Parts: sequence; structure tokens; C-alpha cells
Amino acid sequence: MSNTGTVTLTDDATGKSWKFPVLGGSIGPNVIDVRKLYGDTGYFTYDPGFTSTGSCESKITYIDGDKGVLLHRGYNIAELAEKSDFMELSYLLLNGELPNAQQKAKFTRDITMHTMLHEQIATFYRGFRRDAHPMAVCCGVVGALSAFYHDSLDINDPHQRMVASYRLIAKMPTIGAMAYKYSVGQPFMYPDNKLSYAGNFLRMMFGVPAEEYVMNPVVEKAMDRIFMLHADHEQNASTSTVRLAGSSGANPFACIAAGIASLWGPSHGGANEAVLKMLQEIGGKDKIGPFLARVKDKADHTRLMGFGHRVYKNYDPRATVMRKSCHEVLATLGIGSDPLLELAMEMEEFALKDDYFISKKLYPNVDFYSGIIFRALGIPVSMFTVIFAIARTVGWISQWTEMIEDPQSKIGRPRQLYSGQTERPYTPLHARK
Ligand code: ACO
Repeated sequence: MSNTGTVTLTDDATGKSWKFPVLGGSIGPNVIDVRKLYGDTGYFTYDPGFTSTGSCESKITYIDGDKGVLLHRGYNIAELAEKSDFMELSYLLLNGELPNAQQKAKFTRDITMHTMLHEQIATFYRGFRRDAHPMAVCCGVVGALSAFYHDSLDINDPHQRMVASYRLIAKMPTIGAMAYKYSVGQPFMYPDNKLSYAGNFLRMMFGVPAEEYVMNPVVEKAMDRIFMLHADHEQNASTSTVRLAGSSGANPFACIAAGIASLWGPSHGGANEAVLKMLQEIGGKDKIGPFLARVKDKADHTRLMGFGHRVYKNYDPRATVMRKSCHEVLATLGIGSDPLLELAMEMEEFALKDDYFISKKLYPNVDFYSGIIFRALGIPVSMFTVIFAIARTVGWISQWTEMIEDPQSKIGRPRQLYSGQTERPYTPLHARK
């Protein structure tokens, strides 16, 4: 971070002026440093939804929403998706550099050694209703990890922070798969450490103890790529939630549980589930026109799910990779054409030519295609957001670690524009109307 100049704020009512520093990063817009704004002027800034607010300095992920660029530690997501894998990307996000062969082998082994859960956690699952949403179960179980792993709760000890990070990355596929197994009444599958991260997850989801699980390498590769595309996305709602929860000194398991809760919402990680539901409801190409008319009608409140993004005002680069991956998977699995994929493609074509979407810069986001690919892989709808949470755990924990290690970080405490009642006397019960 460097000082690049100043801006002057003038209060038109009093004629008073104040100068504020402008700070620059390595790329992207500069920021006005308003940390002294309240002390100097007596004003707060007002920015609900943080549309113009930088909440932290970060070196992990960079997004240029206008150009549709996503970089992790300086590497383009499209190149990473093609040439790298999820373990390597996880190392990169956590450590800042790509691993050499030895570092990668050690990291992969270290993660693998943490895939099992404390046996008593299985009992914990049995307390949930069978029809509980797997995200509800994951939220509860991840929060409960702090009740099981007392030796990695000290956030001031770098070794304990690292162990907690590895535990979370390693155990999330086990936790997610167990949530699914519980919901369908099948026995939990223990991890098999011979398998890759993605392969292990697939076996724990779809395998049963009575049969040998036969891995399809195309499905395994597709799952690994899905994990990569969802690994981190700078200061989105769930990541900001993790940072805010962590800013009070809360333990990492509790913070990641908070992130999972935030991710669950349909405006965030729940969107891929919503896209599939939407496409099923639309039903056929002849219904696209009337559906888009509803989307454009302000009184209707219908949104084209999987379109639009707070940051991308261009194609989401992850959607480009996901779209390609979607076609590859369908072709390789011999599914041919999925009517929902065809409907999605048609919908995309319609929307990209439509003035409403053009003028508002609404493009497909990653969720527009991920639901279809999940469907092709045989993943049940209720697990879509869980898979997102498994992938995003490395991003959350990398961002949490960066925050803990940043000497500038403070407890997050936004202020407000109060518009409620001013002070008034208490009315006794008998005197109230
Ligand atoms: N369909 C129709 N209109 C839309 C859509 C959409 N999907 N998204 C935004 N708009 C319109 C809004 O109605 C608004 O119009 P107005 O200016 O006339 O009022 C304008 O575009 C701006 O929308 P906002 O909601 O202010 O944009 P914001 O940045 O707050 O929202 C969001 C971003 C939540 C992602 C939004 O685009 C949306 O709801 N999309 C659908 C849900 C979705 O796909 N979410 C996944 C996001 S990606 C992820 O989490 C991995």
C-alpha cells in the first residue's frame, strides 16, 4: 500500500475543508483513507451494502469486474483451472506462492492426514432430523468442531492456526458427504486417503460399504475444477462474514460456520440451486419470453437467477470455464444434450441480446452453469451449496489468516445513520393506549 495523493472534502454548510490521504495498491482503484474522518469532521460515511467501501487490505484475490478478470495471488483463474488442481490452488491461496513438487506432495499429504472426523461427531449428526437441509447440518457441525479440537483454538499461535486451517480444508468434504448420507439414510463412508481430494469426496458421497466405488476420472476432474472455481472471491458476503466474526477473536471453526450461514442465502451461494429450480419451472423454450417479461416487471420481483453480480459488470470468468466444462462433462458422460442445459443456453442468448440486461450490465455468473454440471454429475440439488462451501473453505481460512496476521486489523464495528425515536419518557403500562 502506498500514499498516492490526497482528496479534499469540503462541508458546503460551514465552508470547512479537510484533506484525506489516497492509498494505492498494486492494481485496481485507489481508496480514500477515511479512518480519521469521524475524528476530524464528526461525520460517518453511509454505504449500506458496502458498494464503495474497502474493508481491508488483501494480497489474495483480485477482481476487475468491468473486464471480467479474476486473479488468485496474481494467477488468472482460467489458466489455473486448465493447468493446476485444487490442492495446488489451496497451497497458493494459503501461502502466496505456487508450491514446488516437494511442497505440493507434503501439503497434499498433510491435508490428507486430517480427513477423518472425531468419531463422536457421528453421534452428533444423529441429533438432526433426517429431512434437515445439508447446509443446516454443515453449519451446525462445523461450528461444533471447536467443541472437539481444543488444541487448535488459540488464534495467537501460528502453528495452531495452521492446524485449524488444514483440519477445516480436509474435513469439509467428509462433513458435507456425511450430511448427505444422513439425509438419505445410508451409512457414513470413511475417507480413503489413497484418493484425490475430489475423488475422496465423490466416494464418500456416492459409495456404499457393500460395493467397491469405481471412480470416473472425468467426473473426478470436473469436481476438482468446480472446487477450484469456487475457492475464493475476495471480500464477498460470506468472506466478509468470516472476517467480521474473526475480528472479535472468535475461533476459526466458529468463523467458518458463520461463513457457511452467509453462503446459504439465494443471493449468494444458494443461487445455483435457485437456477435449476427456475429452469425447471420455466419448462420450455417457448416460455422464455413470458418469463423474461416478468423479470423486467419491477412489480413482479422475479430475478433471472444466475445473472448479475455485485462486482462483475461483464462475463464472470468462472462462468466461461464452467460453461466449457459443462459441455465437456455432458459429452464425455454420454448424456448428450440435457434439455435444461439447452434451455439455459437459449435463455443466455435471449438475455444477452435484451436491452434490460445490456443496460444493467447483467451477465451470467458462475452459478448459471454450476447447477447444470452438478445435475450431470448426479449431485442432488440440496448438496449444491454444500459443495460451494467445501470449495470456499480454503478461501475463507486464507482470508481469516491474513486478517489475524495483519497488524492493522481491528474488531469490525460499522456505525449507522440512526433514524428512530429520539429520547422520550417511559410511559407506564396503565397509561398506554
Ligand atoms: N435479474 C433481473 N434483474 C436484476 C438481476 C437479475 N438477476 N440482478 C440485478 N438486477 C437488476 C436490479 O433489479 C436492479 O435494477 P434497478 O436498477 O432497476 O433497480 C439492478 O439490476 C441492480 O441490481 P442490484 O440488486 O442493486 O445489484 P446488486 O449488486 O446488489 O446484486 C446480485 C447482485 C444479488 C448477485 C443480483 O444480481 C442478483 O440477485 N442476481 C441473482 C442471484 C444470483 O445469481 N446470485 C449469485 C451471485 S454469484 C455468487 O454468489 C457466487
